[in-house]
Amino acid sequence: MTPPNQTNTLPVILTGDRPTGPLHLGHFVGSLRNRVAYQHSYQQFVMLADAQALTDNMDDIGKVHRNVVEVALDYMAVGIDPKLTTILIQSQIPELAELTFYYLNLVTVARLERNPTVKEEIRQRGFERDIPAGFLTYPASQAADITAFKASLVPVGEDQIPMIEQTNEIVRRFNRMYNCEILMEARALVPEIGRLPGIDGKAKMSKSLGNTINLGATADEIRAAVKQVYTDPLHLRVQDPGHLEGNVAFMYLDAFDNDKAALEEMKAHYVRGGLGDSIVKKRLEVVLQEMLGPIRERREALAQDKGYVMQVLKEGTMKAREVAARTTDEVRRALGLSYF
Ligand code: TRP
Repeated sequence: MTPPNQTNTLPVILTGDRPTGPLHLGHFVGSLRNRVAYQHSYQQFVMLADAQALTDNMDDIGKVHRNVVEVALDYMAVGIDPKLTTILIQSQIPELAELTFYYLNLVTVARLERNPTVKEEIRQRGFERDIPAGFLTYPASQAADITAFKASLVPVGEDQIPMIEQTNEIVRRFNRMYNCEILMEARALVPEIGRLPGIDGKAKMSKSLGNTINLGATADEIRAAVKQVYTDPLHLRVQDPGHLEGNVAFMYLDAFDNDKAALEEMKAHYVRGGLGDSIVKKRLEVVLQEMLGPIRERREALAQDKGYVMQVLKEGTMKAREVAARTTDEVRRALGLSYF
């Protein structure tokens, strides 16, 4: 048997998303464009974490099911190439559930309750004392995701750092208890660029806040969103000096406008006074339409060919399952669970 990942010596990188809604510009800046770059220098797995999404969506399984395909379309439309990246559906790999079941014995309930991300999510969801056990314990499932593929790097937002820490605690515990080096510690790779604010000026672009620009947005939706983009409330008349701090129009231009010289000039003019918001927004609209137009076209073409998309997901999942099965086999042996 070939040991895992020795046919391909590139380091393994794994990321995932809960498929609960379409992806937006915030995802693009924070993760998608990095994935497009990483796929050339790493062995990359990208997981549609539908089982994790169910931990707080058992009453809305249709949403999860639908968004598996929507998010897969987003991935491929931005340039995640299934020839270079393995895209997989979490729920279709039962070995991940098996690993989770073992790992749950290597964490305490108290430790799970202390996980700051889980804690915050419990608060946001208003679970109070009625926390689904699967929700409380999903960090063990995420540890299974990461270790099954022997990922050494996990690109994630800052909020996911506690998950990687908990994964590494499980890894160290497992390897120490069974005197082996089967599981690998992983490192979080947090993007340097901060979060993209929402169009309303809130710190985070997020579906639940309703302040997103989706990757599949139509030209009209983009136009409408740009109109709403938060600028400088003190910039009332064109001749007034404007402020760049907290000005979402300029923050987006910083993120997406490739003509940096013209942008710097525009900023100076804005700060000096004499440049209206409408000019800034006109430029922002051009930049966003140019960037999102081709993504939308690819997305629409792929959406016409669901058969192809499902084939990509099936092949990716099958390939990923082989890797996960090898790790699970090693884990079973270490636990003395190989009888036949
Ligand atoms: N918890 C991640 C999120 O909410 C999604 C996720 C599931 C993930 N499994 C993962 C991220 C494994 C990185 C690695 O965004």
